[in-house]
Amino acid sequence: MTTTTTTTTWTVREVPVPTTLDAPDAWLLLGANRVRTAGSIDVWGNADRADSPQAELAELRDSHAERTVRLVAVADESPTPGSDAGDPAAAVIGEASVGLPLRDNRHSALVEVNVSAAHRRRGIGTALLDAAAAVARADGRTLLMAHTGDRVEPPAGPGALESPTGAGRVNLDNPAVAWLRRTGWTLAQVDRRSQLDLPVDPALLRRHADDAAAAAGADYRLHTWGTDVPEQWLEEYAGLLAQMSTDAPLGDVDWRPEVWDGERVRAQERMLHDAGYELLVTAAEHVPTGRLAAFTNFWMPSHTDEYVHQGDTLVVAAHRGHRLGMLVKTANLEALIRQRPSVQRVGTWNAQENRWMLAINVALGFRPAGVSGTWQRPL
Ligand SMILES: CC(C)(COP(=O)(O)OP(=O)(O)OC[C@H]1O[C@@H](n2cnc3c(N)ncnc32)[C@H](O)[C@@H]1OP(=O)(O)O)[C@@H](O)C(=O)NCCC(=O)NCCS
Repeated sequence: MTTTTTTTTWTVREVPVPTTLDAPDAWLLLGANRVRTAGSIDVWGNADRADSPQAELAELRDSHAERTVRLVAVADESPTPGSDAGDPAAAVIGEASVGLPLRDNRHSALVEVNVSAAHRRRGIGTALLDAAAAVARADGRTLLMAHTGDRVEPPAGPGALESPTGAGRVNLDNPAVAWLRRTGWTLAQVDRRSQLDLPVDPALLRRHADDAAAAAGADYRLHTWGTDVPEQWLEEYAGLLAQMSTDAPLGDVDWRPEVWDGERVRAQERMLHDAGYELLVTAAEHVPTGRLAAFTNFWMPSHTDEYVHQGDTLVVAAHRGHRLGMLVKTANLEALIRQRPSVQRVGTWNAQENRWMLAINVALGFRPAGVSGTWQRPL
């Protein structure tokens, strides 16, 4: 497809999966990575949530539990004449990804679109979204999902759109919000983005850890591991990941129970090694039964040593009310500080209505740092 705009003509293409990042066709992925990183900086103010080209290649290669299709808008002529000779990746002016879950949630596809700031309002985002929707439709998907981000949650009023849960608002003047609302998307839920700046007061952390340990009592024992789950906990951990998909509040998001087993966990570990990511996991064993009652994990990317992402935290329903959430979180944070003293920021997203999780984060020193909207559109 070639489209003419006032200044640039461009073509939407699927990104091939290069054998390595030095392969002759790798420029499409490298260009997509550059546009996506710029989009992430534009939305959040830094590249913390961006990914390295290596991580994006690993995601493209992996098709165990999810298949990813990447699309790019490529300028037919050099967009900045003279300055980018020899750098074909500079011709990529927009990019999209389509995530197609394979083990569960086969009704859905998660899309993300980014257009270079200099090329916005020319229909490139819409063309990429249409192409992404066509990929999803061809794969039998009936629901598109997408996220928008705001650095500051707007006050209630005419400039804000409320979450259907009643908790959380997004900015109506966010370009992505304006863009999605125009084409039949609806807001399904709002997450709070929270950030913890390190170092934290070690005494405060220890006090929370000691209080939680006292409340939990002698029945629980902590285990901490890295990317690879010890064989002993493999199936248990898979069970906790499955529960995570049903127990975290979902608002109006049509996300159905995920199917996890040890094989899927191991496949994810292989992908993480390939991507250059590391995990840090702390779980609480219920000693009388020998089963895992709670866990939390950090995702440590390779593109920065200053930032880590706080991922899932779950306490199994029968074990709630024993401060296990605080127990595993403080232990994992102490392990992180020991292992990665370079980390300056921990970021996390939680449903704005999830007051139990938010209360733990606030007590640890996390502060609100924006909101993320989850949007849906039937196909
Ligand atoms: C959201 C984004 C992808 C839109 O890309 P784009 O190429 O500018 O979008 P289009 O040109 O196809 O816009 C189509 C329509 O959306 C609406 N729209 C887009 N940007 C808008 C803005 N800043 N303000 C108001 N309306 C806007 C308009 O109705 C526009 O049509 P018009 O220009 O004829 O008025 C782009 O702003 C972007 O990359 N943002 C950062 C990343 C992001 O937030 N991605 C969305 C998450 S999936």
